[in-house]
Amino acid sequence: MSEIGIFFGGKDNGSTAKVARKIQELFGAGATVHNVSTAAKHDVEKYDFLVLGTAAWGIGEMHSDWERFIDKLIEADLSKKKIALFGLGDQKMYPESFVDGMGTIFCRLPYKENVVGNTSTRGYNFYYSTAEKDGKFVGLAIDDDTQAEFTDKRIKDWVKQIRKEASI
Ligand SMILES: Cc1cc2nc3c(=O)[nH]c(=O)nc-3n(C[C@H](O)[C@H](O)[C@H](O)COP(=O)(O)O)c2cc1C
Repeated sequence: MSEIGIFFGGKDNGSTAKVARKIQELFGAGATVHNVSTAAKHDVEKYDFLVLGTAAWGIGEMHSDWERFIDKLIEADLSKKKIALFGLGDQKMYPESFVDGMGTIFCRLPYKENVVGNTSTRGYNFYYSTAEKDGKFVGLAIDDDTQAEFTDKRIKDWVKQIRKEASI
């Protein structure tokens, strides 16, 4: 089984950290969680499969820890790695930039064809998101602020989906 690295940026013990830990639980022993505030390029290089998550911050930005980490990520050789993205946001407070942090990570990634795990926008209510491409989110969108009741099922279904798409 390939090794899985889950990299997240968000508040300490916030919603993004919680989602990262749930994804790790579902993958089991082969998965490790890293907070991007302390992660390095060599951490990225260890894994065949990367799960990258950020809270949306500012107006439509990645979490500030990601702003510092993204260059290290991109310096690593990602050409043979499968990648899945998740984004946290609040569609009621920020309906014009919903989960945009995930959209920014996607935009900055080379090898976009290596990204698995896009999801339907059905069930969310927002005006605009840079994380939406061709009518779908580029990864998993979680709104733990206004739709917490869906969080667990959304994560479970998505992990099942990315396992299948990445043959893990
Ligand atoms: C200052 C601030 C700016 C935010 N900007 C956005 C935004 O542009 N889009 C969005 O969907 N959510 C936005 N959010 C909501 C957060 O992304 C959401 O609450 C998330 O769950 C926080 O994750 P964390 O607890 O891991 O930090 C913002 C929240 C704050 C406090």
